[in-house]
Amino acid sequence: MEGFEKEFASYVGVPYAISVSSGTAGLHVALQILNNERNGRIITTPHSFVSTANSILYVGAKPVFVDTNSTMNIDPIQVEKNWNSQTHGLLGVHLYGLPFEIKKMMKICKENNGFLVEDCAQALGSTYNDKHVGTFGDAGIFSFYDSKHLKLGEGGMIVTSKKNIMEKCKMIRSHGMKKKYLHEYLGYNYRMNEIFAKIGRIQLKKIKKLVAARRERGKIYLEDLANVDNLEIPLIPENAQHSFYRFPVIMKKNTSRRKDLISLVQRKIGTELSTGYPIPIYKQPLYQQISKRLWMARVSSFPDYSKIRCKNAELIIRSLIELPTDPWISEADIMKISKVFKSAFEGL
Ligand SMILES: Cc1ncc(COP(=O)(O)O)c(C=O)c1O
Repeated sequence: MEGFEKEFASYVGVPYAISVSSGTAGLHVALQILNNERNGRIITTPHSFVSTANSILYVGAKPVFVDTNSTMNIDPIQVEKNWNSQTHGLLGVHLYGLPFEIKKMMKICKENNGFLVEDCAQALGSTYNDKHVGTFGDAGIFSFYDSKHLKLGEGGMIVTSKKNIMEKCKMIRSHGMKKKYLHEYLGYNYRMNEIFAKIGRIQLKKIKKLVAARRERGKIYLEDLANVDNLEIPLIPENAQHSFYRFPVIMKKNTSRRKDLISLVQRKIGTELSTGYPIPIYKQPLYQQISKRLWMARVSSFPDYSKIRCKNAELIIRSLIELPTDPWISEADIMKISKVFKSAFEGL
């Protein structure tokens, strides 16, 4: 296990990496350490997998959803606007592998004395100013679920450059144990399985190639779909390197025919396409009826999530299609997918 952790830390460029049983477990552990007070607010994005926001609920805090911008990531202007004295930190997501505006977020967190956690579940290999994502905030979290860049079935990693955070992470992932049968904190069994760690070490040896292959696939789409009318493709800032977990495109016309378009393309290429997350997290039943569903919550009150509207995120979620970037799909097949998609979209 230690070998996997050391090699992962060295790839990402941080002093410490702590393996856990899943990305969600990593988020839970990091937030438990950084969020010291109950009832506080933690700002996050509504456009992510539900576990991002749920990890905030796990630690007795309130997720505050703010809108995304044209990058599809959380908007720094909205973060700043929504930060108040009850806000303890920010949990940002590098969605699809595109780094969010890290420098701006770090500045906001620093000025407000809040923490920054980076959800890098989809972003292994992504960099910002030549530094890996996950290394900017107090902690970064990666997922090794089957669809991710490293595929262990289940698993995750927390990275940090702070020794005290590393020490607490190690305790909390294993029942708060400081040494054998001495329990200092309330912890969990979030240890990674040794067999998974062995598989992880083997895959990690190939990570540079795997990320490079995803970038090649991303580049094909970027070039091929650049000037398609009414189709928006990821905008990659000069100082950021994308790792293309998937290639999201946004339909600017005929959104109501998105499912037809997907079936048409799928029939021709035989590869499954997805629409991504179907609704913003605050529209999930858990959040819409949070006081009824979370009767055991350690929080005195929640925002009324039925009144929340993040217009940009809602629009994007309604019009997004994910194109595959998996390294095992040949570049020739990616070119074919791109061509078929382009002509089907133009013919809508
Ligand atoms: C953005 C994001 N955050 C968190 C997670 C949770 O990771 P895991 O499934 O390993 O718990 C995932 C993955 O599924 C994810 O895509």
